[in-house]
Amino acid sequence: MNQELNSSFVKRISDTSWHQPAPRLDWAQSLEAGEVLHFNGLPFAIAQSEERLFTDNLLAPKSRNLSLDSRGVLKGFQGPEDLKVDLSSFILRFRGLANDLVNSAFPRYCEEIRIAPTSFRPKEVESRKQSVRADDRRLHVDAFPSRPNYGERILRVFLNINPNGKPRVWRIGEPFEDIANRFIPGIKKYSYWKAKALNTIQVTKSLRSEYDHLMLGIHDAMKQNDAYQKSSPQLTYEFAPHSVWLCFSDQTAHAAMSGQFMMEQTYHLPVSSLYNPSSSPLAVLERLTHKELI
Ligand SMILES: [Fe+2]
Repeated sequence: MNQELNSSFVKRISDTSWHQPAPRLDWAQSLEAGEVLHFNGLPFAIAQSEERLFTDNLLAPKSRNLSLDSRGVLKGFQGPEDLKVDLSSFILRFRGLANDLVNSAFPRYCEEIRIAPTSFRPKEVESRKQSVRADDRRLHVDAFPSRPNYGERILRVFLNINPNGKPRVWRIGEPFEDIANRFIPGIKKYSYWKAKALNTIQVTKSLRSEYDHLMLGIHDAMKQNDAYQKSSPQLTYEFAPHSVWLCFSDQTAHAAMSGQFMMEQTYHLPVSSLYNPSSSPLAVLERLTHKELI
C-alpha cells in the first residue's frame, strides 16, 4: 500500500510523554477524521513482580477479559489474593496514563466524558469459530445490539503489552462516510414499534434509536459481506509491543487479526464534546439520510 493511502489510516507519533503540555488540536483533527493515532514511544515499565501476570490462567472460566471498574473491583479474575492486588495496580497504572494522555491532549473531551472499566486481555485474539456478527477479525465499526448509545462517541486507547515481542495486528478500513454510503441503501427501514418491542422484552437496555439501528445495520452488513472483507480499501498494520494507539471505534473500521496481552481503556463522550461534531457518525448519517436520527 502506498504511503499516501497509508497516512490516511494511521498517524504515527513519536512523543515520549503521556502528559501533553498543551492541547493537541492536530491530533484531535486526525482522530475525528477517523484516523488511528499510533504512539511508539510512550513508556510503560513492567516491574519484575508483574511478569507473572502474563498468563491466561488468571482468567475465571468463561471470562474473555480481566476488567477493573471505576470502584476498583476486578472482574473476570481467579487466583491468589496477592496476584489480584498486583493485577489491579497494573491495570490502574495504565488507566492513569491513558487518562492523562486524553485529559491533557483533548481537554474538551473531558468536560462530559464517561470512563468505562479498564481491561487487560491476556488471551490470544479469538481463533475459534464463532458467528460472523461476533467475529472481530472481520472489519467493522463498533455498534452493540443490546446497548443503544444515541450517537455517543466511543473513544478507545490500546496498549500492546506483549512481553514476547509479538505485535498486535489490525486491519484498518476505509473512511466512515464511504462505508455509510456503501451500506445504508441495503439496511432495512427503521421500525419504532420493533424497537419498542425489543426494549419491552429486554433485548435492548433502552429504546433502539434510528441512529443505533443504522449503526448496527452497518456493523452487521460489513461483517457479513465476504467480498467487502477481502477487497475493500484497507491496511494491515502491526502494533509492536509497547505501542499505544487511539481511535474512535464507532467510526474507524477495524479488525483484530492476532496478538496477545493488551490493555484497553474505553471512554464515552457526547458529540457536542468533539472539536468537529460534523465529522461524527451521527452527523454523517443525518447528512446522508436527510433526517434526524435520535
Ligand atoms: Fe471493535
